[in-house]
Amino acid sequence: MGRQLELTPRLACIAGWVPQGARIADVGTDHAYLPVWLTLHGRVASAIASDLRPGPLDRARETGRRFGVEGRISFRLGNGLQAVGPEDCDTVVIAGMGGENIAMILSRAPWTADGEHTLLLQPQSRAEVLRAFLQDHGCAIVREALVLDRGHLYPVMEVKAGRMSLTPGQRLGGAKLLRDPLGDRYLMEKILQRQSAVAGLNRSADRADRDRADRLREEITALYIMREEWRHANCPGN
Ligand SMILES: C[S@@+](CC[C@H](N)C(=O)[O-])C[C@H]1O[C@@H](n2cnc3c(N)ncnc32)[C@H](O)[C@@H]1O
Repeated sequence: MGRQLELTPRLACIAGWVPQGARIADVGTDHAYLPVWLTLHGRVASAIASDLRPGPLDRARETGRRFGVEGRISFRLGNGLQAVGPEDCDTVVIAGMGGENIAMILSRAPWTADGEHTLLLQPQSRAEVLRAFLQDHGCAIVREALVLDRGHLYPVMEVKAGRMSLTPGQRLGGAKLLRDPLGDRYLMEKILQRQSAVAGLNRSADRADRDRADRLREEITALYIMREEWRHANCPGN
């Protein structure tokens, strides 16, 4: 890599949502591409790059060194937001982790729902767990978008303190994705994953498996309702 740092579409979407002049904390930074890019492009007033493990944090420092901004970023070792305080930042980014892990990190730092912070969240999996957590912990998804990156769809969420009331379909299929051009594909992927799981569980004689299949069938119905709403919103006349 030369002096040019190119972000992947997923990280580029998040970078585009960081307010100009923000004081960011990037939790689970790994290579620190996001804080390094934002610092290089004069987009942030300050940046913290934090990670759970020393290996990724060394990689983060190395990226900072390579692009000449190591001294302008604070590198911190810690679990979740353990090494970051509410006064250190106004924007928290947590990307590239499972939805359950992101929810766990936020639950241990209740100040993230104090109304003073913007959260930019990008779950790799189990986004529905994260959406449910946010709803139950005084947070509202104010913007959501899907990004196609190397063949995979990733939801990106902007979250603020507030209230929201999600239908089962919105919890599973997105709080603010009704107008997203990739919404139909996202919903179909979720439906197909569940249909395939149900097909496997149907072969089981185990009671717990049959209960799980029932829950998945309910989710499929909720997702089909969402898909109808998406089609209604995007393909009027169909
Ligand atoms: C797949 S990388 C994502 C890197 C970058 N955020 C991105 O989106 O491209 C996940 C990173 O999260 C870190 N991580 C996982 N759990 C964490 C936690 N509880 N606290 C801080 N970092 C964590 C891992 O060490 C790893 O470096």
